[in-house]
Amino acid sequence: MSRKTLRIALNGVTGRMGYRQHLLRSILELRDQGGIEIADGERVMLEPVLVGRNSAKLAEIAQQHSIEEWSTELDTVLSDDSVDVYFDSQITSAREQGIRAAVAAGKHVYSEKPVAETSAGAMELARLAERAGIRHGVVHDKLFLPGLLKLRRLLDGGFFGQVLSVRGEFGYWVFEGDWQSSQRPSWNYRSEDGGGIVSDMFCHWHYVLENLFGRVESVTARATTHIPRRWDEQGNAYEATADDSAYGIFELADGVIAQINSSWAVRVNRDELVEFQVDGTEGSAVAGLRGCRVQHRSMTPKPVWNPDLPTGERFREQWSQVPDNEEFGNGFKAQWERFLHDVLRDRPHPYDFFAGARGIQLAEAGLRSSSTGQRIRLDNLEQ
Ligand SMILES: NC(=O)c1ccc[n+]([C@@H]2O[C@H](COP(=O)([O-])OP(=O)(O)OC[C@H]3O[C@@H](n4cnc5c(N)ncnc54)[C@H](O)[C@@H]3O)[C@@H](O)[C@H]2O)c1
Repeated sequence: MSRKTLRIALNGVTGRMGYRQHLLRSILELRDQGGIEIADGERVMLEPVLVGRNSAKLAEIAQQHSIEEWSTELDTVLSDDSVDVYFDSQITSAREQGIRAAVAAGKHVYSEKPVAETSAGAMELARLAERAGIRHGVVHDKLFLPGLLKLRRLLDGGFFGQVLSVRGEFGYWVFEGDWQSSQRPSWNYRSEDGGGIVSDMFCHWHYVLENLFGRVESVTARATTHIPRRWDEQGNAYEATADDSAYGIFELADGVIAQINSSWAVRVNRDELVEFQVDGTEGSAVAGLRGCRVQHRSMTPKPVWNPDLPTGERFREQWSQVPDNEEFGNGFKAQWERFLHDVLRDRPHPYDFFAGARGIQLAEAGLRSSSTGQRIRLDNLEQ
């Protein structure tokens, strides 16, 4: 693809993710640093086109950030041949329709997760995208976090020996909205609007596990709604119909067992909002969003169980921080750059709609496991 400028239609930029992570931290930063460098001294500029439902909000964002074009007419934007890429960070239930139209219009498509409401819907989008010959990608932002990049480095360097298990803790207290406003949108807590922690977080856990530790073969999960009543953005009480906590066990290829708790009803007693402990035969690590601590086999203490005596060892102090050794940028921006390079070089993006479909398949299987009490094996999704 030879272009001097890539025009990117961004749908959902009035939302939390669309505005902060995708517009501000990614596209505008890339635009303001002179676009994407494709060869020595050769750059492709970026031009955002805002799309949404509320003209006043779009006009305000456009004016604030010197963006020339915005529209409330998705069809008009998609029929514009000068628009190359469509991005969607709308509420999940609105996404499939937007992407379908963009694929039909021949645009390259990048999407927030989950890419569709069901794995069947996501597979359908993936097949349509392949048939249309466009580049397609789904946000895999956690892979680009400094903490997980350090974990990747440890894996690549053989630090762990054989990986045995992974234990993840994700969550924080999301206020109910009565005496303190909630810090997440209310639709997240209504299943009829596409909410729920399983459908939100299992997509993330899927690509983290698949890319770092191996294919996910089965899941056993228990999802529940600990807080059944919440208050929305207007201060009205509503019934929280979606799960707000999920306790999952994931069995991976090569026998690795991963166990991840996800909850919006826990108080944080960790260094970071998500942490993964990886235990291997040669060493262990605890990776968060930014930091990563390790303990090698040679530095492992030998505790003896004796509840009659106070523990003299300060276990948490026996771990060492993995150094940065490089500069880490914003994870969303890093993946945007990668996706746009793939568009410009006409090569597949590794984190595509098929990967998105596998993530949704895991969420569906997790919910099925929770309602049936069974361990669910994941079938290979046919490509
Ligand atoms: N990658 C991540 O870590 C991450 C984190 C949070 C959310 N997300 C995903 O991003 C998407 C957006 O989440 P958010 O937290 O920004 O939500 P949000 O409620 O803040 O934003 C939703 C956006 O969708 C638009 N929209 C379109 N149709 C709508 C409708 N019928 N009702 C309400 N809004 C509608 C809104 O105008 C707004 O721009 C979701 O699909 C979510 O799963 C991803």
